Amino acid sequence: MKIGIIGLGFVGLSLTSVLSSKGYDVIGIDVDKEKREKIINGISPFFEPELENLLKKGLKKKLKISDDFSLIKDCDFIFVTVGTPQNTDGSINLSIIKKAVTTIGEILKRSKKKPIILVKSTVIPGTMRKNVLPILEKKSNKKAGKDFGLISNPEFLQESTAIKDTKFPHVIVLGGYETEFMKKAKKLFMKLHPNVPIIITNHQTAEMIKYANNSFLATKISFINQLSNICQKIPGANVDDIAKTIGLDPRIGKLFLSAGPGYGGSCLPKDMKALINFANTTGVNPTLLNAVEQINTKQLEQIISITKKKLGNLKSKRITILGTAFKPGTDDIRDSIAIELIKKLQKRKANITIHDPKSMKNTEKIFGDKIKYAKTIADAFSKSQCVIIMTQWKQYSKINNNNIKKMEKRIIIDSRRILAEKELVADYQAIGIGNNQ
Ligand SMILES: NC(=O)c1ccc[n+]([C@@H]2O[C@H](COP(=O)([O-])OP(=O)(O)OC[C@H]3O[C@@H](n4cnc5c(N)ncnc54)[C@H](O)[C@@H]3O)[C@@H](O)[C@H]2O)c1
Repeated sequence: MKIGIIGLGFVGLSLTSVLSSKGYDVIGIDVDKEKREKIINGISPFFEPELENLLKKGLKKKLKISDDFSLIKDCDFIFVTVGTPQNTDGSINLSIIKKAVTTIGEILKRSKKKPIILVKSTVIPGTMRKNVLPILEKKSNKKAGKDFGLISNPEFLQESTAIKDTKFPHVIVLGGYETEFMKKAKKLFMKLHPNVPIIITNHQTAEMIKYANNSFLATKISFINQLSNICQKIPGANVDDIAKTIGLDPRIGKLFLSAGPGYGGSCLPKDMKALINFANTTGVNPTLLNAVEQINTKQLEQIISITKKKLGNLKSKRITILGTAFKPGTDDIRDSIAIELIKKLQKRKANITIHDPKSMKNTEKIFGDKIKYAKTIADAFSKSQCVIIMTQWKQYSKINNNNIKKMEKRIIIDSRRILAEKELVADYQAIGIGNNQ
């Protein structure tokens, strides 16, 4: 059995590494030369725990990496894992996936195989039927369901646990027509992930499931952020105790209930925008989703407002941002709230120093020499007038008064409450804890 994977980003490379390390005959295709060269040499183009080890194992077995699409002509399964970014109006941009399936269709035309094409990329409901399927049929001159299978297979992995999530998914969704191809795909997934529930549904429901999943997670975050804002007005109230307690109710669940600067990253903001945009086109006014987004935007404004309250005019003030990755365990800064914060502080002419254990290089690609990059946490505190903790890296929980004493002004704004339990010689404000704001 041969497996092709088109697009070697977080989703595609995780899948490639997991399957090839198990000995599957995998061909990974990507158009990005620099990325491919790293991958061929066993180097992951981004930081993701465990990924590089599995990639190296795969390369020692049968894994091949290429930009030559013709190599997929002998594949039994072809996974599409290219990006689906957003347009400026928030709608989904399908140009990358359209291009990828156009090429797949052209290869199919010349192939004798009857492969199953599984789309993992997140796409708005209707995309498979209105775009992907017609392109594939037109370019290949073949019929879906007869000459090849087409299945929506949304991905639920999280960056920082991408390998674990790829190895042990909580659910498999297969959307499409109930054909022999569907049976074959189900068999593959039952073999790969015995005991994991498999939901078989139609394309549009599978597409919608992914948006339902991410918009619900975003809603949980905005919910707890709104509660955290109320808590801040109640002296002594602590949002974490509230989250911990309601999280024990099985109807609620404990995950994604951590108050903070708002959700960021490559998925939640983009998927929320795409769903809102899509809902509007259907004539449904997505009032709840709009509110979730508004709360998210306000969280960042709140951090800026606290900073201004503490520092006054921000012009020429040295402000340190701890953490630019959108979450710990990754170097991904796409749609990171910390990056937004830096941009907004720069507009107010503040001098910025940043520190992040993994994403300094990525951050430098955006800001160049316009900000300072502290090599160590100690350097990040030195001469700073205000430190804002944005990402809950474990390292930051070790911050102590020796660090704080190196500051020019001892102001700490902790959006993750990492230091909330410590006795600090600082003017300390945590998001979600009622005190002297
Ligand atoms: N990152 C996540 O946590 C995550 C989780 C679940 C779902 N998703 C969804 O999965 C999809 C992929 O996300 P990602 O974060 O892995 O994206 P990514 O941007 O990290 O990777 C996409 C890759 O596709 C490559 N590519 C672009 N055009 C190509 C083409 N024509 N042929 C071959 N390769 C091509 C790019 O060079 C890039 O390496 C998106 O739709 C995303 O919304 C992402």
